[in-house]
Amino acid sequence: MRGLEIKDKILSKLIDLPTLPEVVNKVMEIANNPRSSAADMAKVISQDQALTARILKLVNSAYYGFPRRISTIAQAIVILGFRTVRDLVLNISILDMFNSKKQAGINIEALWLHNLAVAVTSKVLAKRMGYDQPDEAFTAGLLHDIGKLAMIKLFPQEYEKIVNIAQGSSRWIRDVEESFLEVDHALIGKWIADHWKFPPQLTRAIHMHHQPHLESEYPELTSIVHGADVLARIKKIGSGGDEQIPSFKKEAWIILKLKPQDLNEIYAEIDKDIEGAITFLKVIREG
Ligand SMILES: [Fe+2]
Ligand SMILES: [Fe+2]
Repeated sequence: MRGLEIKDKILSKLIDLPTLPEVVNKVMEIANNPRSSAADMAKVISQDQALTARILKLVNSAYYGFPRRISTIAQAIVILGFRTVRDLVLNISILDMFNSKKQAGINIEALWLHNLAVAVTSKVLAKRMGYDQPDEAFTAGLLHDIGKLAMIKLFPQEYEKIVNIAQGSSRWIRDVEESFLEVDHALIGKWIADHWKFPPQLTRAIHMHHQPHLESEYPELTSIVHGADVLARIKKIGSGGDEQIPSFKKEAWIILKLKPQDLNEIYAEIDKDIEGAITFLKVIREG
């Protein structure tokens, strides 16, 4: 497959991806509407019993570590906030969609561990710079490489070849994607985000996570995810499909208000948070 042919193929295959469950779209609409209330969101989620049970299991897990049991969705919304609950619903349905445990030649566990490390690191960076939605940063980190997950699902053999070449040649996976597909996973991720009508800041962060210096609409969230991707690679937690360490874009470094002497502290925070986050992912994946 080459060039335009693959682009058309990817776009037409995207249409075959199942739509997100109706409840997810409703929850995203409610979260976007300033006039809707916590009760509106609780009502929509509560109609889906399986989803309700999973959200309650998550909010009561060690990841959040609340001292008292949260027993209703309404309570979860009050404690965690609209956007965090919206993101939980989104994370659960995306993980369901891409929950294949095995793909010959591709280590999916390592890819999810990379995604999780970027999620945790995004939240750490967000908190440090005073970004007002650290849980949103977690979600953006978790979903930043969704383009790779989609390629594994839609074109397993082709993508396996790309990963093998990247790993065997110390090339960037993005370069190999570009040379085979003429697009990279960041753009494919954007197509998916559009297809599923993700919130705009999430779509931008997914699309621009390798080029934060070119992002003008949501430079903060995009820089957070970019920086987290670099740091997670330096820490070697999981694998993004190649073993390269991208350069930390200067513009992102400035937006994140980082100083070189902060890094050791940040690495220690990542180590501290990653175990809890592994539980978070496990709870979602096991249903
Ligand atoms: Fe990436
Ligand atoms: Fe990545």
